[in-house]
Amino acid sequence: SEALRVGLAGLGTVGGGVIRLLDANRELIARRAGRAIEVVAVSARDRYKDRGVDLTRFAWVDDTTALAQQADVDVVVELIGGSDGPALTLARSTLNAGKSFVTANKAMLAHHGYELATAAEAARVALKFEAAVAGGIPVIKGLREGAAANAIGRVYGILNGTCNFILSKMEAEGRDFAEILAEAQALGFAEADPSFDIDGVDAAHKLSILASIAFGTRPAFDTVAASGIRHLLGADIAEAAALGYRVRLLGLAEDGPDGLFQRVHAHLVPVDHPLAHVTGSLNAVVAEGNFVGRLLFQGAGAGDGPTASAVVADLIDIARGEYGPPYAMPAASLVAAATADSGER
Ligand code: NDP
Ligand code: HSE
Repeated sequence: SEALRVGLAGLGTVGGGVIRLLDANRELIARRAGRAIEVVAVSARDRYKDRGVDLTRFAWVDDTTALAQQADVDVVVELIGGSDGPALTLARSTLNAGKSFVTANKAMLAHHGYELATAAEAARVALKFEAAVAGGIPVIKGLREGAAANAIGRVYGILNGTCNFILSKMEAEGRDFAEILAEAQALGFAEADPSFDIDGVDAAHKLSILASIAFGTRPAFDTVAASGIRHLLGADIAEAAALGYRVRLLGLAEDGPDGLFQRVHAHLVPVDHPLAHVTGSLNAVVAEGNFVGRLLFQGAGAGDGPTASAVVADLIDIARGEYGPPYAMPAASLVAAATADSGER
């Protein structure tokens, strides 16, 4: 059957990873998807930047936001980033054109996920975002599909690879915060604006997406109380270690009697807790379901390969024609959650 033809917006860490993965696993992916998945058109800011991959085989589209208007593009993959701007224009124009849309952009989903899901459902196309939360870990699928029969009481975990990388290296190597952040940036883990990572904003974006899936609520990023790790000193981490704890930035969402509680902040985690052993850029998510019990999802939360792996898994679903609603229920059924007092914002 005919190939699924992809328009790819953004050719940085993740976009480059998607091209490399589709090249490396081409045959295997075609067998699993039932047809080939081919990038046909690409776009980014700088046409002439050397990205270490051959782009001459793809059409170059100057106006990134017009990628969906290319006649031969069936599905658009957005790997630019940013909650508004070109990413959002591209998302809207793709869905309005009746084409499916895949993104790793948690900032955009935290702010506009409900609108985009409504548009995708109206157009009867896919909106897929496995890569947006916890990189390569299939946690969206795990909660949306694997735990679909459960009432979820709580969902929490390590949602930012950059912070976890910094905290675990500060602890193990006693090195300086700024030096380790620079290393995380060089490895492609950090956001374009790394303050989103270290101030807890990126984890809050992801938490609001997870809470929507877990509790059937519209994403409520504005009500997440978030703080980060900027203020932490090596001495704080050493002191915690001496007392038998590790410092981890955790996001936690709970749908309690007072409403939706969503909070991101540094926690002291006892050394014998599984989350204390999640090191480097790994992420982990715990979800508590009323029949399944406690689920633990763990794996690579950032970086080109793991994130591309989640993006391409979404493309395989689309190639197979197997995709349900973007959230765990139709967008029209998502409720605006009453907000519990999550503390200072
Ligand atoms: P990069 O900064 O590495 O790449 C961004 C790409 O977008 C670049 O190719 C850039 O073009 C392009 N771009 C930026 N602005 C524009 C614009 N105005 N118009 C057209 N193209 C533009 O980012 P990442 O690959 O790291 O991240 C991409 C997305 O994936 C983000 O939403 C991020 O949050 C998300 N994500 C990232 C992960 C990671 O580990 N890096 C993990 C999970 C999600 P050019 O190269 O020409 O400058
Ligand atoms: N900047 C993000 C992180 C990328 O460090 O977790 C993955 O979403």
